[in-house]
Amino acid sequence: MIKLLTALFAFVLLSTGVNAENGHQLWLRAKSTIPVEVRCSKKSPTINIAINELKNGWQGKAGQVIELKILKDKLLKEDGFRLSENSIQAKTDAGLLYGAFEILRRQQTGESLTEEVINPSYNLRLLNHWDNLDGSVERGYAGRSIFWRGIDLLKVSAGDIQLWTEYARANASVGINATVLNNVNASPTVLTKPVLERAKAVADVLRPYGIKTYLAVNFASPEVIGGLETADPLNPEVQAWWKEKVKEIYDLIPDFGGFLVKANSEGQPGPQNFGRTHADGANMMAEALEPYNGIVMWRAFVYDPSDEDRAKQAYNEFMPLDGQFHENVIIQVKNGPIDFQPREPFSPLFGAMKQTTVMPELQVTMEYLGQSVHLVFLAPMWEEFLKSETWQEGAGSTVARCTDGSLFNQKYSAIAGVANIGLDANWCGHDFAQANWYAFGRQAWNHSITSAQIADEWLKLTFSPQNSAEETSAYDLEWNLSFLQPVKQMMLNSHEATVNYMMPLGLHHIFSAHAHYGPGPWWAPEGMRPDWTPPYYHQADTFGIGFDRTASGSDAIRQYHEPLASQLADVNTCPEAFLLWFHHVSWNHEMKNGRTLWNGLCYRYDEGVKQVRDFQRIWDKAERFVDAERFAAIQHKLTKHSLDAQEWKDACLLYFQQFSKQPIPYELERPLYNLDELLERDEQRVRQSE
Ligand code: GCU
Repeated sequence: MIKLLTALFAFVLLSTGVNAENGHQLWLRAKSTIPVEVRCSKKSPTINIAINELKNGWQGKAGQVIELKILKDKLLKEDGFRLSENSIQAKTDAGLLYGAFEILRRQQTGESLTEEVINPSYNLRLLNHWDNLDGSVERGYAGRSIFWRGIDLLKVSAGDIQLWTEYARANASVGINATVLNNVNASPTVLTKPVLERAKAVADVLRPYGIKTYLAVNFASPEVIGGLETADPLNPEVQAWWKEKVKEIYDLIPDFGGFLVKANSEGQPGPQNFGRTHADGANMMAEALEPYNGIVMWRAFVYDPSDEDRAKQAYNEFMPLDGQFHENVIIQVKNGPIDFQPREPFSPLFGAMKQTTVMPELQVTMEYLGQSVHLVFLAPMWEEFLKSETWQEGAGSTVARCTDGSLFNQKYSAIAGVANIGLDANWCGHDFAQANWYAFGRQAWNHSITSAQIADEWLKLTFSPQNSAEETSAYDLEWNLSFLQPVKQMMLNSHEATVNYMMPLGLHHIFSAHAHYGPGPWWAPEGMRPDWTPPYYHQADTFGIGFDRTASGSDAIRQYHEPLASQLADVNTCPEAFLLWFHHVSWNHEMKNGRTLWNGLCYRYDEGVKQVRDFQRIWDKAERFVDAERFAAIQHKLTKHSLDAQEWKDACLLYFQQFSKQPIPYELERPLYNLDELLERDEQRVRQSE
């Protein structure tokens, strides 16, 4: 009878979906009661966490004894660890914690465990939160800030502590060891006493998880909150103010990490307001932080509305300063030369600044990739970026190697991701956006890991059945074939699909208005800065389309190293993925597959839409393997995703058709919208947002 009931129960589960989940557990859903004995002669809050994690999640042999040991080992980096079946050895307590999470992940994903030494690729693996003190999140699509609620609401609650603990645990589980608590468009108020006290409370929660706290600061702080008449970095009073402020911070947060600075960029104040250089500004802060081993991450995201191609400006401004920055200054460079577009070539600054530490900045929040509506797995995009060959030190000078310390002699190595985290129950808005937080951590830890491996791990951890009634080998096999494989493939195809329906062949920044969500290749209101309008980027005319960055145009290609520069400069050898990024190409240009550029563009847009329709099918088929709540939420988003992809295709093709004056190939699906209707919709949306 009992057997019958169990079978019936299992059948009901299989046919109606599994236990409801709201996604709050992220990839850390597994619990276990299998006993394990964990021994460690040292005690510390971090080691306690490691022990508890092992005890609560152990899925290895019952009764196994495992020893945690701190030791000196030349093969181990700061956070690295040495694993064996019955021990974790590390140089630091945090290393033991990372080792514990590694063992658990392998147990849960069925990956084998051999004796090995595992070190991180970067020393600093940071999230950048663009959270404002009023609780809003710039480019945040997952609810309000987990750190800030408003300047009058700084008191720390039990709920805060719980949430920050969960956040710290999730980060530690993927090796993230640093976080910037506030927006790069920083309010000077962040450096006032009551705000610093809340930052201290956050830091106290994060510390045992091996996470250091950083703040983004406003360059004009000495004037705005310090009462000084200037913020000139060469002024002794200004220098003394920063030193005093840094001391105040370290008195509160003894292991404070340092500052992140957006200066002389998009209206933010900076050293240039006083006739000084980025190096003068960064070094002044670096000197204040140096006695405490703090660092300055100084952003290279700078551009002006000048005649110079926006893509060239950061390089022009920063290259002459190479060699002038203090050792504890790191220049933080966005992956591409413009701004987190669906696809960009790597920024030419990587590998070019040879006497300065440079760190990549990736965007986990999907400002330009469908925000929290579209399903886009970003690991393939970051993998492509990290593996890009710069040639700066000969063959093998990938972006990863130009930044991880293996090519250049540097004290620090770092990588940052702009967080996609908010108060939404599932943290990230879209359940699949959690995979991007996970992926950022995994790639920051190991920049050689493949996207497929990350997707595989994340899906197993996030969706594998938890109910023991389901754990039959037949079910496992079925889950693997009918859920894991197709859904993983969907994730791996999702970035390319987005590029296809939004901005194929190197198109970029053709969004409407400031929301950076829907299509707006036409968007150019009177009086708007040209470099904030799509026509500046696509340059469509009756001859063709694309931004000429060869010698006959802006010559941005010259910022790349040979032989890459020559490859990009020749329209026949330039990778087609970047064709319209670097070239203004005739509508009749022959593509590698024999199609004309116009036809090729139409095919790409069409392909993107089809891919998303396919994702809907894959997801619907996965229904019986997913709990009802997450299944429905994702299904709902995929419907909107699909409609959006159609809108992108129709908007771009109908708009560009006005220039190409050629038909959309007749074998392709016809547009479902007409251009006037799309323009009208867009205008309405812009009006509503103003
Ligand atoms: C983008 C984004 C801004 C952000 C800026 C930055 O332009 O739209 O919201 O402030 O990047 O990275 O500083």
